[in-house]
Amino acid sequence: MMAKHSPIGLFDSGVGGLTVANALHNILPSEQLVYFGDTAHLPYGDKSKEAIVEYSLGITDFLLAQKCKVILIACNTASANAYEEVRAHVGARAVVMNVIDPVVNQVCAEENGTRTIGIIGTKATIDSGTYEKKILEITPRLQVSSLATPLFVPMIEEGFVFDDISNAIIRSYLSRRELVGIESLILGCTHYPIIRNQISRFFDFNVNVLDTAQIVALAVQKFLSENDMLSGQPAGDNLFFVSDHTPYFEVIANMFFNEKIHLEKNNIWK
Ligand code: DGL
Repeated sequence: MMAKHSPIGLFDSGVGGLTVANALHNILPSEQLVYFGDTAHLPYGDKSKEAIVEYSLGITDFLLAQKCKVILIACNTASANAYEEVRAHVGARAVVMNVIDPVVNQVCAEENGTRTIGIIGTKATIDSGTYEKKILEITPRLQVSSLATPLFVPMIEEGFVFDDISNAIIRSYLSRRELVGIESLILGCTHYPIIRNQISRFFDFNVNVLDTAQIVALAVQKFLSENDMLSGQPAGDNLFFVSDHTPYFEVIANMFFNEKIHLEKNNIWK
């Protein structure tokens, strides 16, 4: 096991996981973060499980080489399709966490067994059925309904988050019958916290739209604290790597992470 002051490693298919990095940085400023965005392969949401596992294991090796004490899969698509494989690969070398379990645990702890939960995410996340399986294993009486909303990621990345275009796409997806009557909604994609307010507004603030990035960050804090793994010393600079770099990624990164950050190209696939 790594030292307490070792960094927390986290990865996503691109810049969406920066919503989780941002929440972590706010809650745990003494922890150094090493972020990897696999921009050379994004989007993961349309890929096969086989490809998502292969990419996730490659990135995991990179984060292990950075001596990370925790590897947080900050991507729902990879959490849904590659968590068990990453965990088996890492063994005792680091702690592996995903962004699904903390949200499932919170939903199951809060709900009384009669409520209706909606889940939205990429095709690969929704098709995996991971959220539903995990929720129903803990609380079988919950009603769970899920919907793939694949246009949200390119919409957000193109900067359509608060205008007629985003409102039309949000309305079109969220009025589908799968989401009629839900009381809570899980944003099952790390991009979606960016449009959380617009989603809440669509439901006239009558649906509990879970702040998934915050829930995950609090779960990491709780785990580190309970296992005496908090750094306890000033953090080194956070590091942000991407497998392919364009100036545009740098611009949109600031939509997801509230401080100005530098993305360093590191194509681990070569
Ligand atoms: N951010 C990823 C997730 O949480 C989705 C983006 C992609 O499709 O690559 O699932």
